[in-house]
Amino acid sequence: MPVALSIPSSVNYSTGQIHASNKQTKVTKLKDLQGVFCDTQAADEMDAETCIYQVEMLPAQSVEGELNFGVTHLEAGIIGDEFYMTRGHFHQRIEQAEFYLGCQGEGLLLLQDEQGEVRVEKVFAGSIHHIGGYLAHRLVNTGSMRLSAMAVWPAVAGHNYEALKQNGFNVSVVKDGDHYRLVEK
Ligand code: F6R
Ligand code: ZN
Repeated sequence: MPVALSIPSSVNYSTGQIHASNKQTKVTKLKDLQGVFCDTQAADEMDAETCIYQVEMLPAQSVEGELNFGVTHLEAGIIGDEFYMTRGHFHQRIEQAEFYLGCQGEGLLLLQDEQGEVRVEKVFAGSIHHIGGYLAHRLVNTGSMRLSAMAVWPAVAGHNYEALKQNGFNVSVVKDGDHYRLVEK
């Protein structure tokens, strides 16, 4: 019997672009991020349709033991003096871990534990981030080009956005000249 050979989906490691016929894309616009940025007046003055980030994914899996693969493309920009960032979340199954892998651009990964303690890792092309369980995670784009990072996470992990609704992250990342500064809230 001939051995079956197929051409799998692929990803461009330097842009994070996924090539797959069944790719799913979710766009997150400014209007979807109510209350996420500190300067609500600056946010209100911007076009609510502005794309802040989009996530490309292979079809989402849901059964125990499966994995998901996605790439976050976070645009460059500031609102007030705060850099564009993802909403951020704990996993619904809070013990479930995840890997992020930097593709392009420059940014930060904020990691906040259940006690509110924050740790920050630099994100760059080739960076590897092991996000252990029990950690909320958020990407921040501190550069002048799109920040793209691949992610692999357990299908059963889920997203818990509610837990951060009250106070969010305890650190925000603001522009300071040509650099960034971490501000405790
Ligand atoms: C999956 C994961 C990423 C994020 C993506 C968007 O567990 O961490 O794929 O979902 O970076 O961020 P959120 O989901 O916080 O809007
Ligand atoms: Zn996650």
